[in-house]
Amino acid sequence: MKYLIGIDIGTSGTKSVLFDTDGKVVASALKEYPLYQPKNGWAEQDPADWWNAVCETLAEITKKADGEIAGVGLSGQMHGLVMLDESGEVLRKSIIWCDGRTSEECTLIEDIIGRERFIELNGNPALPGFTASKIMWVKRHEPDVYAKCKHILLPKDYIRYKLTGEFATEVSDASGMQLMDIANRCWSEEICEKLGIDMSLLGKMHESPEVTGYITDEASVLTGLKTGIPVAGGAGDNAAAAIGTGVCSDGKAFTTIGTSGVVFVHTDKMAVDPKGRVHTLCCAVPGAWHVMGCIQAAGLSLNWFRNNLAKDLSYKEIDAAAESVAPGCDGLIYLPYLMGERTPILDTNARGTFFGLSAMHTREHMARAVIEGVSYALYSCLDVLGEMNVKLADMALCGGGAKSKLWQSILADMYMLPVKTPIASEGPALGVAILAGVAAGVYKSVEEGCARTVAFNPEINGDKAMNETYMKYYDLYKSLYPALKDSFAKLNKIR
Ligand code: XUL
Repeated sequence: MKYLIGIDIGTSGTKSVLFDTDGKVVASALKEYPLYQPKNGWAEQDPADWWNAVCETLAEITKKADGEIAGVGLSGQMHGLVMLDESGEVLRKSIIWCDGRTSEECTLIEDIIGRERFIELNGNPALPGFTASKIMWVKRHEPDVYAKCKHILLPKDYIRYKLTGEFATEVSDASGMQLMDIANRCWSEEICEKLGIDMSLLGKMHESPEVTGYITDEASVLTGLKTGIPVAGGAGDNAAAAIGTGVCSDGKAFTTIGTSGVVFVHTDKMAVDPKGRVHTLCCAVPGAWHVMGCIQAAGLSLNWFRNNLAKDLSYKEIDAAAESVAPGCDGLIYLPYLMGERTPILDTNARGTFFGLSAMHTREHMARAVIEGVSYALYSCLDVLGEMNVKLADMALCGGGAKSKLWQSILADMYMLPVKTPIASEGPALGVAILAGVAAGVYKSVEEGCARTVAFNPEINGDKAMNETYMKYYDLYKSLYPALKDSFAKLNKIR
């Protein structure tokens, strides 16, 4: 019996999963860790927490493999900045994807390179969530740390270094660093030179289904993986979730509700939004790209609601509470900007809002408003993709939030597209296990790996009457941010 392992270094925890070659889960382990928020809008994590979680979860699942582990794939939260010194030691906590401290650096980057040229090369405007502005922030605010920095890695690529000793990355995650020429799938000399970032700091670039290194003796002792097992490039969590939900050809799409929320479409032709509202990145299938919208606080919104207002309820009970309220929440609308927002407004000052709160509203209304508000935000990503005329053939739903039947039906009603959930809910972990399977020669191609392992539950269709109700509220939802934009900026100044 052969096995494949997928590791997903997420924001709330790391999940390691042992699959058979038909994509069946044989064993899985999860270890959570903290998110540090030293200031309002800042977000950091300790790479040591990720590594400990990887070792612990791998040690647990490798015990369950009674045959050969053919390969390991790495996935994880994108964009986080990991800086290492000469001896490979971490120099500071990682500034992660949902940190919003780098607006000034984004302006600086676009001033240096020119906004149009920057979008032309890396597919996106300068974004506070992405890595380049975080590097510039450290350069400006912690020059002594920057001076000692000899390696710059993404979260999952730091784990690759710990597992294999290699400083390497792959195109899907690396394109979220904003240092690439994404049309040519390589580091951009022009961007690096203009920003004064020495290219020798960056990892070796691979395609996602390539072997990038092999498990070392030291990592073998800590994880239970045999020395010499190949580690594939893998992919950033969204590109990985795409593969794990069978999104590997033109027009296939998925929505994921994890900590963040993403609407993702695979495309054979590179398409860039000149207004910079959605991201264009390389995808994990060699020679293809994806366009995606990302909202910062999807599952995070419900998680916040539960931690602060419904500690006594499980997520299932929150779902039931929300279901007891009519669509539209009797006029209560939630804006999910707990960590600022990316698509489509791109504003680190934006903050969460309950609009229309009245004395008749209950905690049940607030629960539903959170779920509906996140869904409006996801729908607004789809709206932009529609405007760009990106081909959209098919919509899968994945991530923790998509396990909720209520959330599934709300999205189907808003999108008015048939939506389907994969039978295996391991999205990113399965995606990178498939990529590891290709790297190890178990599958001939990513497409073959998907066909072997990904299956779906029956489709859910949207309801026209519900859609009409939601669209009335959506119009109002869309008008709220422009009305509040200046107030959010003022709030940020007072703070
Ligand atoms: C995508 C993004 C998030 C993180 C979190 O651009 O920032 O989806 O990868 O997991």
